[in-house]
Amino acid sequence: MNTDQIVRTFNDFYRERGHEPVTGGTLLPPSSDPVLFTTSGMHPLTPYLEGRRHPQGRRLLSLQRCLRTTDLDEVGDRTHLTVFEMLGSWSLGDYGLSQSLRWGYELLRDGFGIPPGLMHVTVFGGDDEVGPDSESLDTWRDLGLPVEPTHDENWWSHGPVGLCGPDSEIFVWTGDPGTPPQGSPTTDPRWVEVWNHVSLRHRRDEDGRLRSLRQPGVDTGMGLERLVCVLQGHGSVYDSDLFEPWMRLMPPLWPLDESSTRLVCDHLRSSVVVIGDGVRPSHTGHGYVLRRLIRRVLTTLWRDDPSRTLSDLPGEVLRHTLDHFRQTCGTGTVREVLEGEERRFGRLLERGRLVLGKPEFEGRLSDEDYRYLHDTHGLPRDLITTLRTP
Ligand code: ALA
Repeated sequence: MNTDQIVRTFNDFYRERGHEPVTGGTLLPPSSDPVLFTTSGMHPLTPYLEGRRHPQGRRLLSLQRCLRTTDLDEVGDRTHLTVFEMLGSWSLGDYGLSQSLRWGYELLRDGFGIPPGLMHVTVFGGDDEVGPDSESLDTWRDLGLPVEPTHDENWWSHGPVGLCGPDSEIFVWTGDPGTPPQGSPTTDPRWVEVWNHVSLRHRRDEDGRLRSLRQPGVDTGMGLERLVCVLQGHGSVYDSDLFEPWMRLMPPLWPLDESSTRLVCDHLRSSVVVIGDGVRPSHTGHGYVLRRLIRRVLTTLWRDDPSRTLSDLPGEVLRHTLDHFRQTCGTGTVREVLEGEERRFGRLLERGRLVLGKPEFEGRLSDEDYRYLHDTHGLPRDLITTLRTP
């Protein structure tokens, strides 16, 4: 199955079970929202999961683009991405978690053809505040899947304050097809999490207290790229059709080690999507995240060869990404933004080298030096470290 077929299979399955598709939208939540970027499929539905009536009913599905900066340091491995898409299904006070798990299992087994012997699940085992999730435990036992109870890993929350609840995660074995699955999700990393089903039945208030919702809901989220990678049998998300033009065109253009190539592709692809959603580089907020992404790419590229330039980016990767994310912004705009930031960063580095070349900045720098370099010359600490690394 290619990516489009996978998305269609998901949509058809949930539509047949009465779910209405909501259009997955921009990465930018409304300005009243305290979170900078949409980090999960449920995010735009928060008011409805908290009890407001949704105009499309009580069963929904979507494909939502998300951005997570919490995983930035993991990017470069096989599965982490900065911008990714999430397939999701919701019950707004309609059916409960057990039904959601049964449908999830049915879709993975019959719709996507994953043998039950390659699945393992985890459930919330309880903590000082909330008891074990026996409903999920019983459901999985009934379905015959191996279950591992955990604590923190199976408690999902939208943030320190807000919707939260116990969840149940479905893992798929990605080890060598010749060897039977071993261990469990917490003991063997070859178990890859594909789908999280959350019983959203609590809200954490500002005072830290947990309150039960009047209308409990179910929120599920499945990372599209990871699912595609598992179903297509790839060792990494970068080998799937989603990264096809990137991984074909970038390594010959900028030869780098594997994890740097992945970082460059991930950050550039993410930057294209963020720019497509209207963000421009700046020193705060959304624009600062974009700036960091572009500058991390440039730092990686210039480490081996300072003549590399984003002007060489093939139009095909920009077009492919904008099309895939259904964005209307033109490739010319994306280029302008990327190249503008490259020029600014280039000038900053030049200035930084001149300043850091002065005798007073030889040897160990004090906190006061860092403060001065930042406040007077606009040189952030990580950049200074980069410039001083021989
Ligand atoms: N909101 C849940 C998650 O992001 C489904 O994992």
